[in-house]
Amino acid sequence: MKIAALIGSLRQGSYNMQLALTMKERYINKLDLEIADIRSLPFFDQDIELNPPQAVRPFLRTIAAADGVLIVTPEYNWSVPGVLKNAIDWLSRVDKVLIGKPLMIAGVSPGMMGTIRAQLHLREILASPGLQAKLLPPAGSEIIISSAALKFDETTNRLVDESTLRHIDRVVDKFIEFVG
Ligand code: FNR
Repeated sequence: MKIAALIGSLRQGSYNMQLALTMKERYINKLDLEIADIRSLPFFDQDIELNPPQAVRPFLRTIAAADGVLIVTPEYNWSVPGVLKNAIDWLSRVDKVLIGKPLMIAGVSPGMMGTIRAQLHLREILASPGLQAKLLPPAGSEIIISSAALKFDETTNRLVDESTLRHIDRVVDKFIEFVG
């Protein structure tokens, strides 16, 4: 099963990237997880959307070819980071490749709230007419990781908290069923 991942942080050492890499490795026998390049995308601009710069089309193709999409994102100022919103805006136009695409959300923060507000905003955004992603229903399937410093190993840069990993195992199995 091909899954494209969008990561909402460009930071070296990003916890959210570490979570995505943990998932890529842990579910290697279940998922072919490809991390999409959103760093190279230009700012969305309606004047160039029909003839976009080089990075845009491969990005859209990656998402279109995926069986499902995983978004792993931090929360910035109680919402979605601009770099992720920019990528989502590209996905909402022309071929509208997210319409009907199975999608799951995860997020990590060093603080107590674990990206809850960003995830709520993201769910609203993804319901808009140009997006209409098919979201994994949240009941029992939210991946909201708080207090990151306690749960990630700073040597291996991977999520190591056992109960969090077991929860993610269950959510990923539900997502596979949901996509299938
Ligand atoms: C943050 N951070 C943050 N955290 C949070 O829980 N709620 C928030 O609203 C914000 N707002 C915010 C704004 C900006 C501009 C920055 C740079 C940071 C802290 C954030 O959770 C922390 O930096 C994470 O480590 C970012 O995720 P990555 O880069 O580790 O994946």
